[in-house]
Amino acid sequence: MNHERIPVITVVGSSNVDLVVKTSHYPSSGETVIGDKFFICPGGKGANQAVVVSRLGAKVNFISCIGDDFFGDIILNNLKKEKIETKTIIRKSKVSSGIALIIVDKKGENSIVVSPGANYRLNKKDIEKNKKYILSADVIVLQLEIPMSTVQYTIKIAKEKNIPVILNPAPARKIPDGLLKKIDILTPNQNELKRLTGKNLESIESVKKASYKLIDKGIKAIIVTLGEKGALLVTKDLFELVPSIKVKVIDTTGAGDAFTGGLSFALAKGIDLKKAVYFANIVAALSVRKIGAQSSPTISKVKKFLKNLKLTQEEKTNKIFS
Ligand code: RIB
Repeated sequence: MNHERIPVITVVGSSNVDLVVKTSHYPSSGETVIGDKFFICPGGKGANQAVVVSRLGAKVNFISCIGDDFFGDIILNNLKKEKIETKTIIRKSKVSSGIALIIVDKKGENSIVVSPGANYRLNKKDIEKNKKYILSADVIVLQLEIPMSTVQYTIKIAKEKNIPVILNPAPARKIPDGLLKKIDILTPNQNELKRLTGKNLESIESVKKASYKLIDKGIKAIIVTLGEKGALLVTKDLFELVPSIKVKVIDTTGAGDAFTGGLSFALAKGIDLKKAVYFANIVAALSVRKIGAQSSPTISKVKKFLKNLKLTQEEKTNKIFS
């Protein structure tokens, strides 16, 4: 594949406005905690992933629903600023835009409550109307903050032309077996893998077993993100830990989105799977150094970071880093 070609990625998913407070610790039930600063940031797993691939240099079509409220304006303006196609953003009336309440603790870990609002109104008709954006993409990227029937319909269309589908199964919920077999790559974190398989994942052996349970259902590759430990790449023939890059962590919100976005971009560029996971680890690591779910780097920031890293010969020869 020509590495200079601009990849086209269509993301189908959620857009939210994130209301974020930093705090020293999470409140327990009935407790009031005085937090630190408050931030209003654009978010939503779909929008976050769309922003990642756009900053890396892909042409991005983003199919998503917003409400006709003040938060919808914030979302729309931000997508335009990020050079994302907004003809595919559908404004629904009599519903609020998606909102996420996020608490970030002193280690940069987060806990999130989402009110999906308009995101749950993204339906098959909306997808049908935007079919051309699905059929013309190099890669389709989805998450689970929209109705499952919409996810299923999008994948059905993508498979008419055998377009690779990457599903970030977040937040985790049951995925029908008939759908699992159509997914090319699944990117759960450890919690999501546990919810998907019902397995207790205390050891690496148990993560392996759970992953192969999904591979046996027809998924081509599972990439389990393990935070600072890196990502576990599992296919029929591979079971390999791709280590992460160490950085100072300020806020991990959206790190999984940065990973899925980075992976999608690299695969759409024709990079092989293992190198794509390495690249995604770097994009995710660079995204946690600032507050907010959309702190992922531009491609020039990734290249600059790599220039200063001691790379192995294999990494040096990877064209995406040149
Ligand atoms: O993955 C992080 C995202 O989850 C936040 O931006 C929030 O909006 C929720 O969708």
